[in-house]
Amino acid sequence: MLRDGLIAAVGTRAEVEALPESRGAEKIDLGGKVVLPGFVDSHTHLIHAASRAEEYELKIAGVSYEEIARKGGGILNSVKKLRAASAEALRKRAASALREFAAYGTTTLEAKSGYGLVVASELKILGLHRELNLEQPLEIVSTFLGAHVVPGEYRGKKGGAAAYVRLLTETLIPEVSRAGLAEFCDVFCDRGAFTRGQAKIILKAGVAHGLAPRVHAEQLTRSGATELGVEMGAASCDHLEHVNRADIRALAKSKTAATLLPGCDFYLGLAKYAPARDLIDAGAIVALATDYNPGTSPTLSMPMILSLACSQLRMSPAEAIAAATINGAYALRRDGRVGSLEVGKQADLAVFDVGDYREIPYYFGMNTCWMTIKKGRVVYQKGRTTGYQKARGAVARGGEIPYDDEEEKG
Ligand code: NIG
Ligand code: FE
Repeated sequence: MLRDGLIAAVGTRAEVEALPESRGAEKIDLGGKVVLPGFVDSHTHLIHAASRAEEYELKIAGVSYEEIARKGGGILNSVKKLRAASAEALRKRAASALREFAAYGTTTLEAKSGYGLVVASELKILGLHRELNLEQPLEIVSTFLGAHVVPGEYRGKKGGAAAYVRLLTETLIPEVSRAGLAEFCDVFCDRGAFTRGQAKIILKAGVAHGLAPRVHAEQLTRSGATELGVEMGAASCDHLEHVNRADIRALAKSKTAATLLPGCDFYLGLAKYAPARDLIDAGAIVALATDYNPGTSPTLSMPMILSLACSQLRMSPAEAIAAATINGAYALRRDGRVGSLEVGKQADLAVFDVGDYREIPYYFGMNTCWMTIKKGRVVYQKGRTTGYQKARGAVARGGEIPYDDEEEKG
């Protein structure tokens, strides 16, 4: 039973119907469908200007992700596109993605900056996180990723990278913190991005300004970022394809979530996925996320990530679902509020048109999500236009979200 946006009671039909408060409650007949906590997608690069479909064929022809990046493509390609885009165009693209997230059962997601890499553009992205939080029903958790790569204008000169790190630690991080625009600070610590030493300086500056650390770790090479993340009490270390035994042990002993992003390996056609079984068996807290971004994981479908987690990472359907809900919530430090169906938690639900929860990952590349509820309100229903969807585009900036749970008339 849901009340005032929260879960008021959980139990069998007979138990819940016997409660005095259930008299007068509106009943939604789900006809034996499967109800999960809404997905918590704890790693996305929500705000970007465009796809990188032009790089897709190069990848298929065998040019590696790192080679494309070295030639000025990759993240820098998205940076160029974002800097040229208006805030309005970025907002439109993100708003449409958010409706899609809801349609796949996601109710809370993290979003990183990192395609601006210059003060104004980074602040523009983080400002959009804030505005989108007011304009649509899903919760967006904001992460500052100014340390995505060193931007072009700082490259090729002596001391360029160090100067950019100073811009991050002396200007951007203090400003982001002062304006309350992010909760986390992330660093892409890898070959071609930031070294472990630079990552430490950046994450420390973040901590000093109240931004909790998280890190892109061991994605392309083993950089030691996991060790650093654990040492700094990071909320999560993400990717982890190249972790070694010591990293696995360190994660297992720590409170840092190990966030796996199998969409990247699938999309890039890589043979090496993160060692999910070893991490789980060692006792690490494993979360799953889409990494929705234009360069390594152009998907926002958590059900697809569940399918990959089961078939490629050898996680059981139950492990994958826990990783995509309560452990994702933990990675975002929101496990007290979302991520499970417990009395007192937010009424964030995803309903799937299947008869068995294992069918959610079993069907792949298709969407069995039938209804999504955020804080007790229907924000998506298959084949029906909800009030929120109807109002898209027409929502006054910062205004009331015109949810409408009423059945459509006519
Ligand atoms: O999580 N690894 C760094 N960042 C993204 C990729 C970003 C991009 O290629 O645009 C990731 O994989
Ligand atoms: Fe990422």
